[in-house]
Amino acid sequence: MKISIFGLGYVGAVTAGCLTSHDHYVVGVDVHDGKVADFNKGVPPIVEPGLEDLLKRAKERQLLRATTDCDDAIADTELSIVCVGTPSAPSGALDLSYVRMVAGQIGEAVKKKGTPHVLVFRSTMLPGSTEAIVAEKLADLESGDLLSVFYYPEFLRESTAVADFEEPSLAVVGSRDGSRPSESLMAALFGESAAVVNWPTAEMVKYACNAFHAAKITFANEIGRVGKQMKIDAKSVMNLLCQDTRLNISSYYMRPGNPFGGSCLPKDVRALTNKARSAGVNVPMLDSLLGSNDQHLRSLLSLVEATGQREAVILGLSFKSNTDDLRESPMVDVAQYLLGHGLTLRIYDPALNLSALVGANKRVIDVRMPHLAQLLQADLGSALGSKGVVIAAQKCAGIAELAAHITDHHHVIDVNGWTELRELPSHYQGFCW
Ligand SMILES: NC(=O)c1ccc[n+]([C@@H]2O[C@H](COP(=O)([O-])OP(=O)(O)OC[C@H]3O[C@@H](n4cnc5c(N)ncnc54)[C@H](O)[C@@H]3O)[C@@H](O)[C@H]2O)c1
Repeated sequence: MKISIFGLGYVGAVTAGCLTSHDHYVVGVDVHDGKVADFNKGVPPIVEPGLEDLLKRAKERQLLRATTDCDDAIADTELSIVCVGTPSAPSGALDLSYVRMVAGQIGEAVKKKGTPHVLVFRSTMLPGSTEAIVAEKLADLESGDLLSVFYYPEFLRESTAVADFEEPSLAVVGSRDGSRPSESLMAALFGESAAVVNWPTAEMVKYACNAFHAAKITFANEIGRVGKQMKIDAKSVMNLLCQDTRLNISSYYMRPGNPFGGSCLPKDVRALTNKARSAGVNVPMLDSLLGSNDQHLRSLLSLVEATGQREAVILGLSFKSNTDDLRESPMVDVAQYLLGHGLTLRIYDPALNLSALVGANKRVIDVRMPHLAQLLQADLGSALGSKGVVIAAQKCAGIAELAAHITDHHHVIDVNGWTELRELPSHYQGFCW
């Protein structure tokens, strides 16, 4: 393909070099005369292992040139990739001015060219940015089919960027409505196995990845600081932690949904942060976990309140499916809150047998919910009744069983990512999706 790349910084220069090694013809565009001059000599404008060789070879094969002239680049290519910077404004907000400017210039140049063009944004932009920029600068071109626009987040790391380009850790491409780009585009640019989603989802994936990386690094560093204070080598602690690829380094616990609870996580986070505090070690991230979990629970309560329903049903009271452990179960807090606010509450949890509860688990009932026996329904139909808000915390009934009892007078809040609930005649609302 003939491709123009806007922004010859860390991302753009590597993308340009790598695309030429796949036999694409590339025109680099930058506002910086010095970078363009270097590029035209095959000299990388940045330090990146392997890039110099790629650019030299591309020059020899006449597959690479650079310019400061947008019209020239658009006229000479069929697809443009935008890799200009998106720095932080002093307020911390994202500065999209370079992307906006380049989008406007590309729009004008495509109009002059008058033949269909593909535009791919690679700069990191917050969800909604592609849509806003298209609406502001490119609406007539896009609706008139002169321009197809994609958002294609970049996951390369500086210093291993060439290898990352060849073998990306993740490939996601966003189109306006989530429809798949043409197979020729998938093969030439995005990769046939790239996930295809809509623009904002693709934009959000990039932020979720970077926030996750930052959270991992911060977590390891906080464990390191607490460990050092206790004369423990946190490097070996973290090495061992990483050996658990079932619960730790895995997709487990990585689904938005229920707040955490149970007999271990809240207690152990509390003990660790208390120990850190008494040892004089500041661990803001670990300190934030219980507060964030509490905030999550509050947002569920707000959703329930917003339905305006005065009858509520909780499906699953214990802290997770197939256990009768009620200790620090978030749904016990939900039940107490709803009762305290005068709602009529019914609970269905087939794993709970009150007469079998003993010890600390029984104390939760005796102290916090002594009237649980009257709320707990053995039968799903009696629990659901004829109306009310259904807080589906767990899959404690089959979808067919639910379908037999749920009507359009019910309002289901799906706390657990049980998306088949959408098929029921009730009003459906996802907790945090
Ligand atoms: N650097 C990374 O490792 C990395 C990784 C993934 C994603 N990203 C994202 O990619 C984007 C680019 O990052 P970068 O590190 O390559 O930035 P950079 O600052 O190194 O390069 C940006 C380039 O854009 C040029 N530019 C600005 N306005 C222009 C215009 N109107 N026309 C043409 N060129 C213009 C600048 O002169 C500069 O050379 C950012 O959104 C960044 O968040 C960066």
